[in-house]
Amino acid sequence: MKLIFATGNPHKMNEVQAMLGDLYTIQNLKDIGYLHDIPEPHDTLEANALEKAQVIFREYNVNCFSEDTGLEIDILNGEPGVRTARYAGEEKSATANMDLALQKLKGATNRQAQFRTVVALILDGKEYTFEGIARGTIRTEKSGEEGFGYDPIFQPKGYSITFAEMDKESKNAISHRGKAIQKLVAFLQEYKQKS
Ligand code: IMP
Repeated sequence: MKLIFATGNPHKMNEVQAMLGDLYTIQNLKDIGYLHDIPEPHDTLEANALEKAQVIFREYNVNCFSEDTGLEIDILNGEPGVRTARYAGEEKSATANMDLALQKLKGATNRQAQFRTVVALILDGKEYTFEGIARGTIRTEKSGEEGFGYDPIFQPKGYSITFAEMDKESKNAISHRGKAIQKLVAFLQEYKQKS
């Protein structure tokens, strides 16, 4: 079955296709000729994820899913949250975003944080959501070259390396998006068996 992943982010696409294996072949927005940025106007990850899936469903009438992810830093009351991508400005610079987070946490002893992903699926016209959380801490400096976004400053709980020092498979096994996508995959497998 064809499933559209409403994303323009090739890193996310790679992570997710690796997890779906041959259960579903996914196509992204570019593959279906949708070249606009889908707005994220809401103040929750859930509402933004649903909005992205709804926009594609309305326009193409296809089964599709989307995801929205936020970094939630405990001592900053969950900031940057829905503003994660634009934390340091509209240009969505990963370096500037990380620098701002590091600056806000300067001298802080409580550096606990989490990544939270909400996946929204529209399948045969019905909406479903799946959540994944990865707890960890914000390092005092960037470390590692893998991954994307805030990966160089996020050290997942139970590890002494950052997400940016892990290979894709290791990150997927414990990450926020990995956990949400595992729930999506389990749901899709069961759905496929029933239908
Ligand atoms: P969005 O879900 O594409 O809107 O991403 C929100 C922000 O979170 C962007 O700045 C991304 O770079 C960042 N982000 C999303 N997923 C990850 C991740 O797995 N690691 C690090 N940063 C991420």
